[in-house]
Amino acid sequence: MSLEPSVKRVSRKIPLEDDPDDFVGYEVLIDFMKQRALHELEGDIIEIGAYMGRGTAKLAKFVQRYGKRVYAIDVFDPSLDKTMSKSGIKAGDVYEAFLQGRSMLEAYQESTRGFGNIVTIREDSKKVSFPEEQRFIFGFIDGCHQQAYVENDFHVIWPHLVSGGALGFHDYKFDDWPEVTKAAEKLIHAHKREISEAYEIEGKYNILSLLLIKR
Ligand SMILES: C[S@@+](CC[C@H](N)C(=O)[O-])C[C@H]1O[C@@H](n2cnc3c(N)ncnc32)[C@H](O)[C@@H]1O
Repeated sequence: MSLEPSVKRVSRKIPLEDDPDDFVGYEVLIDFMKQRALHELEGDIIEIGAYMGRGTAKLAKFVQRYGKRVYAIDVFDPSLDKTMSKSGIKAGDVYEAFLQGRSMLEAYQESTRGFGNIVTIREDSKKVSFPEEQRFIFGFIDGCHQQAYVENDFHVIWPHLVSGGALGFHDYKFDDWPEVTKAAEKLIHAHKREISEAYEIEGKYNILSLLLIKR
């Protein structure tokens, strides 16, 4: 019998940049990767839900010296995400509000300009798949917050994640998006034999991300 991995808390050691268009605090994720030397493993990074691309650019900057790519998946159209939060707000309306009249795609292009190691996939994440030989050292899920999507996004990444690599869920245990918590808990249970460690890490706005390490 194998037990569920216990979720350990990582205390944040580094300050977050003052960057209003980064909604995660990607420095925390990059620091986690550095601490575990994930860049020494073979493979790329994948991000589902790139939005304005601030995190995409930070991830690309971190791994460009190691010859790694960042695959960024997004529909780049705020009107497409009609998911309702627990407090009754439509996800797409939140994206629109923070864009303050900007086009999401243009904001993304501006953030990521000049990075030759970003592969942008403008697609619904349910339609994305990778060739068998693709390897990822790190994947981050912050796209549509419906349970079916979170589960889908996990399955897009997990088969390609290398041993020792990490997969993260943003908004884990965030009141507004209970389906992320439900999906993550279901996935941990179903894949417990393939998970060696689990961590929760605090980013911007005190929001937690869950990071699973593949055995
Ligand atoms: C919360 S935002 C991501 C924020 C980003 N991680 C950051 O901190 O800057 C969620 C993103 O997921 C995208 N999205 C929503 N549904 C999607 C889907 N089905 N496929 C791909 N992207 C989707 C939205 O367009 C939006 O940009």
